[in-house]
Amino acid sequence: MSPLSPILLLLLLLPLFFITMLAQSNNSTYPYCPSINCGNVTVSYPFWTINNESLSQFCGYDGFGINCSYNGNQRIPQISFGGDSYYVQSINYELGTIFLADYDVSPVVVIPNNCPRVRHNINLGTLPLDFTTSSVNLSFHFDCDECPSFATEISCLDRDAGKACLEVMSNSTEEKDWDVYSCDQEVVTTVFGSNIDRFPNLSTNFGRVLEKGFGLRWKKMDGCDKCEESEGRCGRSNTTGFVCFCSDGTTSKGGCKGTIATTLSSVFSLLVNISSSLIYQLMVV
Ligand SMILES: *[C@@H]1O[C@H](CO)[C@@H](O)[C@H](O)[C@H]1NC(C)=O
Ligand SMILES: *[C@@H]1O[C@H](CO)[C@@H](O)[C@H](O)[C@H]1NC(C)=O
Ligand SMILES: *[C@@H]1O[C@H](CO)[C@@H](O)[C@H](O)[C@H]1NC(C)=O
Ligand SMILES: *[C@@H]1O[C@H](CO)[C@@H](O)[C@H](O)[C@H]1NC(C)=O
Ligand SMILES: *[C@@H]1O[C@H](CO)[C@@H](O)[C@H](O)[C@H]1NC(C)=O
Ligand SMILES: *[C@@H]1O[C@H](CO)[C@@H](O)[C@H](O)[C@H]1NC(C)=O
Ligand SMILES: *[C@@H]1O[C@H](CO)[C@@H](O)[C@H](O)[C@H]1NC(C)=O
Ligand SMILES: *[C@@H]1O[C@H](CO)[C@@H](O)[C@H](O)[C@H]1NC(C)=O
Ligand SMILES: *[C@@H]1O[C@H](CO)[C@@H](O)[C@H](O)[C@H]1NC(C)=O
Ligand SMILES: *[C@@H]1O[C@H](CO)[C@@H](O)[C@H](O)[C@H]1NC(C)=O
Repeated sequence: MSPLSPILLLLLLLPLFFITMLAQSNNSTYPYCPSINCGNVTVSYPFWTINNESLSQFCGYDGFGINCSYNGNQRIPQISFGGDSYYVQSINYELGTIFLADYDVSPVVVIPNNCPRVRHNINLGTLPLDFTTSSVNLSFHFDCDECPSFATEISCLDRDAGKACLEVMSNSTEEKDWDVYSCDQEVVTTVFGSNIDRFPNLSTNFGRVLEKGFGLRWKKMDGCDKCEESEGRCGRSNTTGFVCFCSDGTTSKGGCKGTIATTLSSVFSLLVNISSSLIYQLMVV
């Protein structure tokens, strides 16, 4: 083989390369994976809306269904996990983050005197979700004999049974000892650390910090890799279980078939690989 032929081969392949690029830039449509506006939030894969009564299948992750019901004349997006409801404030699909507020303390419920009472911990269960790195935990202790010096008294939540105290939990220090204050109930919730700095006087401002909520980052769902790596979207059908929705409108139990475009591009990269190793060998020799 003459030293020029690999280069010649490359030149011949160049038009093919551009054709491949063009084909890949075609927009996929995913007819079964609609984007739906719900109030101020766009619900789109891997989230989906659960309101459709006739829904026998969904395109999205298990547990990522968003309830989009009317409250008055506004649509309120809500997601539920661990048996509790959370108001969806926004979703950032580029960063893979969703911003929520515990429904009980969220801006969509009217809270007397801006003095909300958190009733439960945040239980993510086995969902593919993690708290964002800016998260800080707040631990509420109710009906205590008194509040320790490392906590803030929330006097609007005091009752005859005792005082309500709030501790900003730091991730380094060891567990503080609450036993001596004989509180009746502890609830831990999560907020953005930046909002604690923004509203420093927690005894009066804790309601604002709570209503601004917290952020979660989503990860790939287990068993979804093969589908998403082939440009598919994972979902579930109530009759056949796992479904992979492909951009050409077909469905599959595993991954999507390669489109002409992806097949062409893998053939192309193989040819480039062969010719570049040929060039390399020629240069070494
Ligand atoms: C590109 O999109 C057009 C219409 O939007 C469609 O007819 C065509 O099949 C698509 N091509 C590929 C390779 O998906
Ligand atoms: C693909 O669709 C998005 C939104 O629908 C649009 O902004 C973008 O211009 C489209 N790209 C191409 C190459 O058609
Ligand atoms: C939507 O956004 C507007 C303007 O930011 C705000 O006034 C309104 O309360 C929001 N609606 C909901 C349901 O969050
Ligand atoms: C419910 O699903 C049907 C069929 O997929 C669709 O045509 C309709 O727009 C959906 N309705 C809502 C409110 O999402
Ligand atoms: C699947 O969904 C359809 C439509 O909602 C419903 O009629 C059917 O009973 C469901 N099947 C199962 C096995 O849940
Ligand atoms: C959605 O939320 C509304 C209002 O909170 C509730 O009545 C309804 O049962 C929920 N729907 C589903 C499918 O969970
Ligand atoms: C906050 O508490 C949750 C459990 O409710 C835990 O998973 C998380 O790691 C804690 N976050 C911080 C910053 O300590
Ligand atoms: C929590 O601990 C991690 C690692 O020890 C550290 O990087 C991070 O800055 C800490 N966060 C806070 C809020 O102290
Ligand atoms: C915080 O709020 C309480 C109750 O209104 C008030 O007594 C106290 O002075 C405030 N502290 C600061 C630092 O503003
Ligand atoms: C290119 O060739 C090398 C060895 O010659 C191989 O390890 C690699 O997987 C090839 N890459 C592709 C995209 O075929």
